Amino acid sequence: MRAERLAVLLSGRGSNFEAIARACESGRIPASIVAVISNRPDAGGISIARSLGIATHVIDHRAFPSRESHEEEIARILVEAGADLIVLAGYMRLLGAGFIARFRNRIVNIHPSLLPAFPGVDAQRQALVHGVKISGCTVHLVDEMLDAGPIVLQRAVPVEDNDTVESLSARILAQEHLAYPRALALLCSGYRVDGRRVVPESPG
Ligand code: GRF
Repeated sequence: MRAERLAVLLSGRGSNFEAIARACESGRIPASIVAVISNRPDAGGISIARSLGIATHVIDHRAFPSRESHEEEIARILVEAGADLIVLAGYMRLLGAGFIARFRNRIVNIHPSLLPAFPGVDAQRQALVHGVKISGCTVHLVDEMLDAGPIVLQRAVPVEDNDTVESLSARILAQEHLAYPRALALLCSGYRVDGRRVVPESPG
């Protein structure tokens, strides 16, 4: 599989989206962002997308009677935009099985821990409470299990004795901004999924 048209789904700040958009602009990711979709009208990521001249869509989940109907509208936009990779960048809603199956191995997420450790919410806090000495971030394909799909790339950071959730989150976030563009560059150049492994395919 290769990809050159990315769609970003987000719910908030959008700093990962911005890092990805800059990497597309500079050619570090050989692709372009064809749509940014937010389920929240007030997401910072939507303002960033507008300022970068990228097409935005606010699809507020509260306006839909069910998860399925909300995701059906998102899918319609994705197909219309011709997206071939769906990039979750702080998208704070679980995706339904139908949506995941429809875009099998074409949905990517970033999570602020070294998976499979600390899936779910508050990953940085979980890492601190557990007392690990190394944490980091993971870019992975999305399957039906929470934060459990095939891993594309990981970056590690040290956990310091005096870390707070905020200081550890900031250290991890800086690595997220490097990891996500690198992972997408790799996927856009071609990949296949072999069991749980994401295998880069050389172009041609
Ligand atoms: C990041 O910590 C990411 O790992 C998690 O949600 C956060 C999104 O931050 N999935 P931002 O909106 O990209 O700034």
